[in-house]
Amino acid sequence: MAGYVRGGERVLDVGSDHAMLPLYLVENGVSPGAILTDKVSGPLYKAYGQVGRAIDGRASVRNDSFPCVMGPYEFRLGDGLEAVKAGEADVAVIAGMGGETIAGILARKPEIAAGFRRLILQPRTKGAALRAYLAEAGFVLIADTSAEEKGRMCEILVAAVRL
Ligand SMILES: C[S@@+](CC[C@H](N)C(=O)[O-])C[C@H]1O[C@@H](n2cnc3c(N)ncnc32)[C@H](O)[C@@H]1O
Repeated sequence: MAGYVRGGERVLDVGSDHAMLPLYLVENGVSPGAILTDKVSGPLYKAYGQVGRAIDGRASVRNDSFPCVMGPYEFRLGDGLEAVKAGEADVAVIAGMGGETIAGILARKPEIAAGFRRLILQPRTKGAALRAYLAEAGFVLIADTSAEEKGRMCEILVAAVRL
């Protein structure tokens, strides 16, 4: 998924949990910053702790309430795209959820979803339902591929607004 983010692009990671993708992108100099969200505070504290440990070896995980900022990382609690405003990130990643859940996140905030240069989506199930939603909502697939994670093949869909 990281390969679909271009240098200089700010990334939004919806449902970040372990924060692996934004950490990779920012710490490797691909993205200047990242917004990490989750609708549940536990996974967002986990993301906060992972970033803290990665960037300064901090062991504690509950120093802040949300929203909060740690260097180039912003942490926000919220459902789907409700935690962001248009223009705050260039690309959005929504990964590790069911295809219908991802479609629902996009459908609840269509004007925000259409503002990203790319949507990088990784449905765990119901990929066909997500493809159908994207087509109906005016997105084109610029990649429809898969990658292996711990022996499991995961679908990756990269979508952009049809011009
Ligand atoms: C299985 S984890 C995926 C973590 C990571 N994105 C990945 O791909 O490995 C799913 C995360 O998405 C969060 N989530 C589910 N629905 C959400 C929604 N509507 N808005 C924000 N986060 C959501 C869950 O709380 C959980 O932390």
